[in-house]
Amino acid sequence: MTRGNDAEGVRLQKVLADAGIGSRRACEELIEQRRVSVNGEVVRQQGMRVNPETDVIHVDGERVASAAGHVVLAFNKPAGVVTTMQDDLGRPCVGDYLTQRSERLFHIGRLDADTEGLLLLTNDGQLANHVSHPRHGVAKTYVVTVAGVISREAGRALTSGVELEDGPARVDSYRLLSSVPGVSMIEVIIHEGRKHIVRRMFEEVGFPVQRLVRTRVGPIRLGDQRPGTLRTLSTAEAGSLYASVGL
Ligand code: URA
Repeated sequence: MTRGNDAEGVRLQKVLADAGIGSRRACEELIEQRRVSVNGEVVRQQGMRVNPETDVIHVDGERVASAAGHVVLAFNKPAGVVTTMQDDLGRPCVGDYLTQRSERLFHIGRLDADTEGLLLLTNDGQLANHVSHPRHGVAKTYVVTVAGVISREAGRALTSGVELEDGPARVDSYRLLSSVPGVSMIEVIIHEGRKHIVRRMFEEVGFPVQRLVRTRVGPIRLGDQRPGTLRTLSTAEAGSLYASVGL
């Protein structure tokens, strides 16, 4: 470990308490129970000091991102907003919703301007890279609205794989949510992030997307968060996101 009981750094239980894990007493208890690790090693005694900026702290195997000043935000992106921090053409962009934030935030992946729903933002560049890198295959869930009653063949084709101009693509899961005359809603789970992938796949099977909403990224759900709002992920949610990409 980088720091022992020397006078440098901040007491581990204070760092944990400041990160919202619990009271200092409760955090001492977690240390006592050997549920806290620093830089991959279980902490076996009280009184350790850490550098919250550089030491990697886990509780019960989940990263305590807030200890390092890292935040992860969930944004419910409305349709018509481009996924950039600044737009030279003056179009509404994600950055417009972040003017009150002091951190330097990155968006984790992208949504098309017309796509709505969950976009994660963070000031931890490593997390942003990991979650958006295809190597980690983070699953994303979308609710797709198409015109008409979608055919069983279309569902089968999406599940078994369709040929796109840049190679084959398939959904990991396909579930018909509702089909009333005139409109069908389908939930798909997909783990790759090629541009316009969901729109292109549905187009390919003859059902162009009318509305596309992302409802989940890895373990993080959009839930009933209102469009245009930001929410800070809880320590546990952020921890599960870090864990999902091996951080
Ligand atoms: N697939 C798409 O086609 N668009 C998105 O915004 C996200 C996934």
